[in-house]
Amino acid sequence: MFNLRNIEWVGPPESGCLRLLDQTRLPTEIVYLSCRQVPEVFDAIRRLSVRGAPAIGVAAAYACVLAVQPAGDRRAALTQAATFLASSRPTAVNLFWALDRMQRVADPSPSALLAEAKAIHDEDQRMCQQIGRHGLELFRTLATRPQQGRRPLGILTHCNAGALATGGIGTATAPMYLAHQEGLQIAVLADETRPLLQGARLTAFELQSAGVDVTLICDNMAAQFMRQGVIDLVITGADRIAANGDAANKIGTYGLAVLARHHGLPFFVAAPSSTFDLAIPDGRCIPIEQRHALEITEGFGKRTAPADVKTANPAFDVTPHELISAIITEKGVIQPVDTATVARVVAHA
Ligand code: MRU
Repeated sequence: MFNLRNIEWVGPPESGCLRLLDQTRLPTEIVYLSCRQVPEVFDAIRRLSVRGAPAIGVAAAYACVLAVQPAGDRRAALTQAATFLASSRPTAVNLFWALDRMQRVADPSPSALLAEAKAIHDEDQRMCQQIGRHGLELFRTLATRPQQGRRPLGILTHCNAGALATGGIGTATAPMYLAHQEGLQIAVLADETRPLLQGARLTAFELQSAGVDVTLICDNMAAQFMRQGVIDLVITGADRIAANGDAANKIGTYGLAVLARHHGLPFFVAAPSSTFDLAIPDGRCIPIEQRHALEITEGFGKRTAPADVKTANPAFDVTPHELISAIITEKGVIQPVDTATVARVVAHA
């Protein structure tokens, strides 16, 4: 298993701080940020030092503890911090879900809020395990088809829906880790994920560190590998899933779903119930973050486009539910992906 802790509360509730692994420095440097003020956590979320829908929610929950450490009107400080943190990134609904939950804590003291933030963190860890269990069953079913022969199960993933993106062993990566642990042969292809390379910098790093067979490919190679028959399934995470199962995830995910359909491959989304936004009927209502042009014209400090060229840089796209074979949640597998099945599985206690 991958064993770097991405998010950790250090010290007592009244004076402790939030320690974040700075994911912008991976894979070449292991650097931790010690956040003592809410704006530091806000910046860490914005800059993607902490990223991935569940991890953003967990970090924001701990930031609420920082907000109430000074003596004074703690309820007002909590409300103000939650409003501010909610403006850091718009797409991942886990952020708003966690902030709502923190604001519903009756006693806005550092110790009560820390207990709630830790509960959110621990629950996310358990949800990852359960997603892994359900996902592994799907993997096993595919691996035992006669046409599979002795070839390892070929899995394509995009972005990083791994341990770095959650409080546990990831969502899309959870069944990979369990497969590896239980001896099911898998071969993962990780898309590099332009423009910020979460696949190359993070997924390849964490799977390789854990001893999982991973091969890094450029985003534009996926179709060719599907055609060659080395991919048996695609699995990604999600940032927000609407009531009908439409799922927002890292830009490029929708294209993979279209390719998977063309090649007759299952396309799975793995996400905890905290990623569902049942208040919105479909994916058209999901706000899509637009990020800075420099990420695509001068990525990682190297200019690769003419100065002042027009750009568009949406960070996410929406995969329509018709293209999703199943959504794997901690509560079970949503299949078929439609409004009724989403409601039945996600509302299940
Ligand atoms: O911009 P990022 O790196 O926060 O985008 C992350 C993703 O798109 C992940 O796939 C998603 O949040 C799921 S993480 C379990």
